[in-house]
Amino acid sequence: MHFAKIEEAIQKASGRVALRGWVKRKREHKEKIFILLRDETAELQCVADSSKLDKKIWDECDKATIESSVELSGSLKKDERAPYGVELTIERFKIVGLAEKFPIQKDFSTSFLMDVRHLWLRSARMRDALKVRATVFEAFREFMKKELNAIEVQGPMFVSGMVEGGSTLFEVPYFGKKVYLTQSSQFYLEALIFSLGNVFTIAPSFRAEKSKTTRHLTEFWHAEAEFPWIGLDELLDIEENMIKYMVRKVLEENEKQLIALGRDPKTLEPSVYKKYERLRYEDVLKIAQKKFPHLKSGSDLGEKEEREITRNKKTPVIVTHYPRSLKPFYHRPDPKDPRYVLCADVLAPEGYGEIIGSGERTWLTEELLRQMKEDGLDPAPYRWYIDLRRYGSVPHAGFGLGLDRFTAWVIKAPHIRDAIPFPRTINRYYP
Ligand code: 4AD
Ligand code: MG
Repeated sequence: MHFAKIEEAIQKASGRVALRGWVKRKREHKEKIFILLRDETAELQCVADSSKLDKKIWDECDKATIESSVELSGSLKKDERAPYGVELTIERFKIVGLAEKFPIQKDFSTSFLMDVRHLWLRSARMRDALKVRATVFEAFREFMKKELNAIEVQGPMFVSGMVEGGSTLFEVPYFGKKVYLTQSSQFYLEALIFSLGNVFTIAPSFRAEKSKTTRHLTEFWHAEAEFPWIGLDELLDIEENMIKYMVRKVLEENEKQLIALGRDPKTLEPSVYKKYERLRYEDVLKIAQKKFPHLKSGSDLGEKEEREITRNKKTPVIVTHYPRSLKPFYHRPDPKDPRYVLCADVLAPEGYGEIIGSGERTWLTEELLRQMKEDGLDPAPYRWYIDLRRYGSVPHAGFGLGLDRFTAWVIKAPHIRDAIPFPRTINRYYP
């Protein structure tokens, strides 16, 4: 038997069809049972009429509980009153997996829905969000391959050194030694440019983030890329074109999901067609100081400040030239003013915050060693990273894009956990 998808059935709107899916809602009215059937494509009202059905089939419809999986067939007809304008009159009906009483009923509190995340994934919201997320991942890969001829690579997750500061490292016992979960695959990508040229990866990164915010996970999906022979200006062009490409693809493929999730697609269009502002840290600081006068040069820009900076922006904003003191040792100082580094953070509009961290890398051995010393780092675990500077080093640059955060922005999610199926945060490591 051929089972159609509900979306096809709705388009067809007449004739007979066999479907399979899950009972999303069910109500009885006089001699009829109304079953809202769902699959991964859509939902359809299916009606069992006791006067037209065998007792056996009627009883089976009667027995079906919320979230039971079922196979059914019947005839389609247009009906204005039905949710999608089409209704199916049930002729055959079979329960495949009878569901016990489904736990998600009245309690929709965040903590309860997190406890039953494995079941909440069946909700229309999660389904739509995850479809957009899939497009985001695909768009990144596509851009890297088609536009930049970049090669996909993988770094390890067990590592011996930090990339983004010691305070967010997860320690893991490793056969009597201590290693860490990686914060970023950047250093491994740097090693691979000498072999492959432009490279990229999609991998988890881990941060022991102690603060509870709407944009931090302890395990997030990191899209990173590294390019030999380029500087900051070329890097910024790549980042801007990439974001435009990714947002455009989501608009092309997921308009329906965006609307259902409460994101008006029009509000994303400027991010596809408009030039992004490129501002230096010191200029952005002045914007933030209007609201937060206590900020001084050298102050970090946190969530509140970023929100203020991007409050009225319709596109992402690129912020460059942060003070050296705010950034890790691998950033290349600006030869024109070494108090600043040739880096760039990309801030998403509407307070979604930093979606990209990036910049030129220190590519000279002496400069790298000096900066490690300034930051009080033991060079030992970084011996291999320093080696990259010793054997035919080249200027290079790269970025890391948080895919969960990017998705949260495009779907207008209240919290980053709405953009990933099994979120990990400071007090959540299950299901
Ligand atoms: O700015 P970050 O820390 O930069 C790096 O890790 C660089 N080594 C990347 C590189 O140049 N290859 O992180 C990059 C991005 C952030 O802009 C943010 O989008 C995301 O990764 N990110 C997080 N997303 C969710 N939860 C967290 N705890 C995140 N920390 C960073
Ligand atoms: Mg950053």
